Formats: sequence, C-alpha cells, structure tokens
Amino acid sequence: SSPLPASVLDLAPVVPVVVIEDAADAVPLARALVAGGLPAIEVTLRTPAAPAALRAIAGEVPDAVVGAGTVITPEQVREAVDAGARFLVSPGWTDRLLAAMREAGVPFLPGVSTASEVVALLERGVREMKFFPAQAAGGTAYLKSLAGPLPQARFCPTGGIGPDSAPDYLALPNVGCVGGSWMLPADAVAGRDWARIERLARAAAASAAGSAA
Ligand code: 3PG
Repeated sequence: SSPLPASVLDLAPVVPVVVIEDAADAVPLARALVAGGLPAIEVTLRTPAAPAALRAIAGEVPDAVVGAGTVITPEQVREAVDAGARFLVSPGWTDRLLAAMREAGVPFLPGVSTASEVVALLERGVREMKFFPAQAAGGTAYLKSLAGPLPQARFCPTGGIGPDSAPDYLALPNVGCVGGSWMLPADAVAGRDWARIERLARAAAASAAGSAA
C-alpha cells in the first residue's frame, strides 16, 4: 500500500466515525464508505466488536485507511495498532496517553476543546488535534477565534457536525478535515442498508470537494 500522509488531517476531508455493534458489519460498511468516496474510516473503541472490526477492515478492505477512535488508554493504543489501526484519535489527552500514541508510530490526533489545551499540546510538539465536541464547544466561531492567536494548530472538528455544517468547518484555514457520523444513520446501519450509506458518503465527499474548491 502507498505511504500515508504524516498527518491524519491530510488523509481525507471527511472522516466517518463508526460505532460497530456486530463485527460482521465492518467489511460491508467500510466498502460502502470507500465506494462513496470516504476511504479514511475511524472505528471507535466503544463496543466490544471494535478490535475485530478494525482487524476485518484492515485485512479485507485494502482501499480503506482504517484508524481507531475513542482511544483513551495506552492499552487501547496497543490493542488498536495490533488490530491494524493506521491512525489513532482521542476525544481528549493526557501525557500518559500522548506518550503511548507517540510510541505507536502511526499518526494520531489528541482531542482538545480549549485554548489552554491547544497551548499545552503545542508546547509538547503536537500541532494537529481533534476539536471535540465541535458543535457544543463553540463550533466554527470558536475555531475561527483560535486561528488568530494560535495559527500553528490545525484541527479535525468532530461532534455534532452534519451535512450543512461540514462545509463551513472545511472552509476555515485551521481545519484539515472533519469527522462525524452523519453519513451513518443508526437505522441504516441496523438495517444494513449499505446502498443508502454509500449514497450519504458520496454526498458528504461531494460537499467537502465543493468547499475545498
Ligand atoms: C465522536 O468521536 O464520537 C464523534 O464526535 C462523532 O460525532 P457525531 O456522532 O456527533 O458526528
């Protein structure tokens, strides 16, 4: 497989955030997202099926770049990388978590929601972060306000983003990509409606392409 960009923010403009209840769904779901134009997929470590789902996607969907989300302990860092995660995302961070992520040797995005956390990460040499929970923490207005004093930091906002707000985030100079689950409605996942998920993924990819132009 081709080398990955050094940053999670440069993998794809929209990163679907997936919660998998049944590992058997992982491969068809990932194939639908890839077919719709969303190859970078974050599988959250929130369900017992997550490690098996990561392993299945990593092994069987070569066009996907699968990573792990909701990584909050060093043990989860190791478990995710062992299962084939090619990037790591966390809703927050600690020095202990950061050390484990650095050691893992794959790109990672620790989560922040305040200016002080951004400054603390910059102090530690980390310039790329998840902004979480994006909508609740202040949305595009908040990120725009950070760009003045803290232009070194780049973000992947995630949390409450939808098809209408995604292009607004992507238009900001300090946003590299957005994450979210809006292309994975619970009823479509539960009903294994992969065709609908592919259509929603295609719409998300198209709106991102439009806002980058
Ligand atoms: C997450 O990490 O849970 C993401 O923020 C998902 O956000 P969404 O489901 O609100 O899009």
